Formats: sequence, C-alpha cells, structure tokens
Amino acid sequence: MNSSTPGVEAALHARRAASFGAKAAAYAAHRPDYPEKALAWGLGGERNTPEHVLDLGAGTGKLTGGLLALGLVVTAVEPDAKMLEELTKTFPAATPLIGTAENIPLPDESVDAVVVGQAFHWFDLDRAYPEMARVLKPGGVVVALWNHDDESVGWLAEFNALIKTSASRRWLSDYESLPEHEAFEPFEKKTFGHKQPRTAETLVETLATHSHMVVVPAEEREAKLRTAREFLDRNPETASGEFDLPLTTTVFRARKR
Ligand SMILES: C[S@@+](CC[C@H](N)C(=O)[O-])C[C@H]1O[C@@H](n2cnc3c(N)ncnc32)[C@H](O)[C@@H]1O
Repeated sequence: MNSSTPGVEAALHARRAASFGAKAAAYAAHRPDYPEKALAWGLGGERNTPEHVLDLGAGTGKLTGGLLALGLVVTAVEPDAKMLEELTKTFPAATPLIGTAENIPLPDESVDAVVVGQAFHWFDLDRAYPEMARVLKPGGVVVALWNHDDESVGWLAEFNALIKTSASRRWLSDYESLPEHEAFEPFEKKTFGHKQPRTAETLVETLATHSHMVVVPAEEREAKLRTAREFLDRNPETASGEFDLPLTTTVFRARKR
C-alpha cells in the first residue's frame, strides 16, 4: 500500500477532518476571518436577503463572527466539542449545536442560507448535499468559502513549496467549480483579495493549526515549522515585525432548485 491507495487516502482524510479540536485555542487565535464583501456576494447581494443562516463546520467561529456582524441570526453546527466551546466563548449570540454536514440537527426548510468556511472539503458530499437541501428554505443558497495564501506573491509561493508535508493535498476550491448536485443550480465562483496581519512568529503559529501539519509525525512537523521560521527570518518581507499576509478568498454559491 502507498499514499495513493484509496483506503489510505480515506483514512488520512478522516484523521485530518477530526484534527482541529486538539488545536482549538490556537485555531481561534491564529486563523484568518473572511472579508465582508465575500460574505455579501456569497449570500446573494440584492438577489437574496437571508435572515437565518447556518454556519456549517463552524469551528471556533471565524465565519460566525462575520455573519453576526451582517446582522444575521446564526446557528453554528460543528462536530468537535472543543471547537464549539471556543465559538461559544467568543460569539455567545450564535446558537451552537453539535452536528455534522451529513446529519444536520435542524428541521426541514429552516434556514435561508448554509454557509461553509474552509470545511466543504471535509464533507461526504453524497450525504451532505441532500442534508443541506433539506434544511434550506425554497430558493435558499449554499455558500462555500476558502481563504488561501495569494501565491502570485513570489515569497509566499516559495514559502509554501518549502512547508508542504507528507499529508498535503489539493483543495476543492482549486477547481473551477464544486461537484454538482441535482438539488442545486450550478455553482458560481468569485475571488476576493484579503489579508491577515502576521509576524514571523504568529505565521508559524497559524501553520501549526493546519491539518496537514497536525496529523504528521512530531519529527516531520517540528522540522517543517523550523524550516518555516528560518525562511521567514531571512526573507526581507517578513523578517522584522508585522506584515500583511496576502490572502485570496474564494467563494462558491449555488441556489437550491
Ligand atoms: C478548517 S476548520 C474551519 C472552521 C471554520 N468554519 C472557519 O472558517 O475557521 C474545519 C472544520 O470542519 C469541521 N468538520 C470536519 N468534518 C466535518 C463534517 N463532516 N461536518 C461538519 N463539520 C466538519 C471540523 O471539526 C473543523 O472545525
């Protein structure tokens, strides 16, 4: 067996999907939020005026905070109790529920939008699409967002090539569209510029919360984080004090048929 064996890949996927709770506090402190204009476009702008939204795979609430700031009523569904505990501390206005995308603990036709930050790739879509369609009201939208490093910036592309681990894989958002489902119209896609204030030290903290780092053996992780810090300390853009980490937010949206 090797790493391209389907069973090995499925096991790695499951380990990565369940890896976040061990780093819940660091996740809350070091992961980026989402730009308001990306959320507004995803939710449909003038075509759609949602009131009650489901943040699915809500984690520590990086997306929940943005949705609350738009004046929306937010239910946050998340399988990991430690992640949800962080969310509840920071965003008591949201309703937290333990659950998964494959088994959403909400009634039929109860939300105007299902919004997913950096989590769609963990879902079993054959089961999650029918569940998302079930909880959405007629005409509701599903919105999937990802923050990525903007690799058109030379040093960041070089940095990311250096810090790949044996668990690194491609993201769904690298594709032109997401897998289609009969319950939804085809996805539309748009990207937005974004940034996160970082220092060499806090960027290494961010890296340490990525699932491809969390699940590899400690020796590999420590070596990669050391490589990361050495690069950032000698790279002129990141060597001294605070800098803006250039990010791209990719948004997909699709209306329920
Ligand atoms: C990278 S974190 C994203 C958290 C948050 N949405 C954000 O934007 O920061 C991925 C989250 O998806 C959750 N997750 C993993 N598998 C899931 C599933 N099948 N259904 C719902 N959430 C899932 C994880 O527990 C984790 O909190």
